[in-house]
Amino acid sequence: MCGIVAYVGDKNAYPILINGLKRLEYRGYDSAGVALINSGALNVYKCQGKVSDLEAHTDGKDKAGTIGIGHTRWATHGPPNDVNAHPHRSSSGDLVLIHNGIIENYAPLKEELKHRGHTFKSDTDTEVLVNLIDDVQRTEGVDLAEAVRLALESVVGAYAIVVLDRKEPDVMVAARKSSPLVIGIGENGEHFLASDATPIVEHTKNVVYMDDGDLAIIDRHKGLKIRNIKNQEKTPFIHELEMHLEALEKGGYDHFMLKEIFEQPRSIHDSMRGRLNLAKGEVVMGGIKDYEQKFVNAKRIIIVGCGTSWHAGLVGEYLFEEIARIPVEVEYASEFRYRNPIIGEDDIVIAISQSGETADTLAAIELAKSRGATIFGVCNVVGSSIARVTHAGAYTHAGPEIGVASTKAFTAQVTVLTLLALAIGQKKGTLTGSRFYRLLNELEAIPAKVEKLLKNEAQIKYIADIYKDASNALYLGRGFTFPVALEGALKLKEISYIHAEGYPAAEMKHGPIALIDEEMPVFVIATKGASYEKVVSNIQEVKARKGKIIAIVTEGDTVVKGLADHVIEIPATEDPLVPLLSVVPLQLISYHIAVMRGCNVDQPRNLAKSVTVE
Ligand code: G6P
Repeated sequence: MCGIVAYVGDKNAYPILINGLKRLEYRGYDSAGVALINSGALNVYKCQGKVSDLEAHTDGKDKAGTIGIGHTRWATHGPPNDVNAHPHRSSSGDLVLIHNGIIENYAPLKEELKHRGHTFKSDTDTEVLVNLIDDVQRTEGVDLAEAVRLALESVVGAYAIVVLDRKEPDVMVAARKSSPLVIGIGENGEHFLASDATPIVEHTKNVVYMDDGDLAIIDRHKGLKIRNIKNQEKTPFIHELEMHLEALEKGGYDHFMLKEIFEQPRSIHDSMRGRLNLAKGEVVMGGIKDYEQKFVNAKRIIIVGCGTSWHAGLVGEYLFEEIARIPVEVEYASEFRYRNPIIGEDDIVIAISQSGETADTLAAIELAKSRGATIFGVCNVVGSSIARVTHAGAYTHAGPEIGVASTKAFTAQVTVLTLLALAIGQKKGTLTGSRFYRLLNELEAIPAKVEKLLKNEAQIKYIADIYKDASNALYLGRGFTFPVALEGALKLKEISYIHAEGYPAAEMKHGPIALIDEEMPVFVIATKGASYEKVVSNIQEVKARKGKIIAIVTEGDTVVKGLADHVIEIPATEDPLVPLLSVVPLQLISYHIAVMRGCNVDQPRNLAKSVTVE
């Protein structure tokens, strides 16, 4: 939530900041701004809208300067408008700050600062923070870095900040607590700072991930220094990025979401690479090596996540219970963290997060950790906060996901959970040898099957055209495909703004059936498998009420074909693997409906990709 980018070096900062903001726009896109220092002048430009609006806004203005900061916002305090956009300037005019996060005690701080003569233009907590730093700097007579450190001692909340001072034009100070910041180390003493590595990778592969409580001081002449919360100097640990620039471009697709849907054969394959060994008949998950016995002996697994990651967790519940015979509870991280859950040292908590930065998931991890549980992370973003605070984990290796609506990250998460369940099941002996091999073989074949079903795009587009004007939609699934129904409904509502609900197919009788009439499209996952006959009966129930059925069926199915208004075929596979195939047509149908309705698919209204506030 909110994207931060900053630069100090010998190049013109403005184009670097604008380009960086475009890469970060998926994190928030209601307003944007930049600040540049040049020859003693501090220029701040900001406006409501997208980064392209900011570019238009700065047209013809003085954009010189080799030190600067930029921000793209997802509003928390105050509506998205020009005044509330970042950067925020202190009332003295000397300091300027960008911020991601929430300052919880901003109201009393603001009152106190008002009494001390500071004035405020915006509704934001950020403007309070910049004035607080300015106040400390003046009263204590300290430099910018020390003022930031002292000011943060009175702050309650979460933040990633970068601050500039007109009086110290060669220095940039950054700090983080519960919101990510990455420092890029370029050539000739230049440095970059950003919420994630995407704006940095085209300039340098050498990065330092800031830890919570870190204060970074970047001086054009003296380089980078990092101090921790106790004001002790730390040696920065330099990582080499593995990210490639092409992964951040649309590569000929109209939208990132479409590109990411079509990337799934490769991303699922990448999630399995080096982990699934058919020749040896084994699954090797490096991440669980030291915790294997804990998994084998686990009395319970608790899975936490939010949004699409929570849906992947629900698939995980079915997988672990079926394959490894371990009881599983799946929790919304936001509920789990506040309800005094019962967690013990024998519990394993699996935290699932694409971004690895979701505030609620991070807080749930901290809580479970404090109660002695072993925490296993399933994250996509390498080096992210969740990846670093968990005891062990497995990266999903889906590559950067830019579209706000998650697609390839979901299938990669489910792939990793499947591998994990298989690895534990094999160790525990909960699967017969033949079933284990069948699942392994089938899993290996999934990328090719996704490739094949993606060829149905024209048919899916045709169906999308028929239902694009619906006001409501229902998604039904059973067993392994119940979470897919939830995910299908989420995809439709988040990008096309059509109200949609996912339900376990049989549960439909207990309420949603009242909504069914000839206007209501009902998407049913009716693949061959354990619940097939039951789902066919549920389809009959919908048809009897004149609902329109769009069914996802196994290739060659004739029974559902005779009942449904439309069928979309997917290749046959084992029940536990059906989610990996059946979700793909639902992603595509949502995509096409949203495009046909003229929606901004990659940046749906009010949403953000990385939710770093609770
Ligand atoms: C936001 C995104 C969703 C995502 C959820 C959890 O709501 O828009 O696509 O599923 O956060 O994010 P995470 O990064 O933890 O998977």
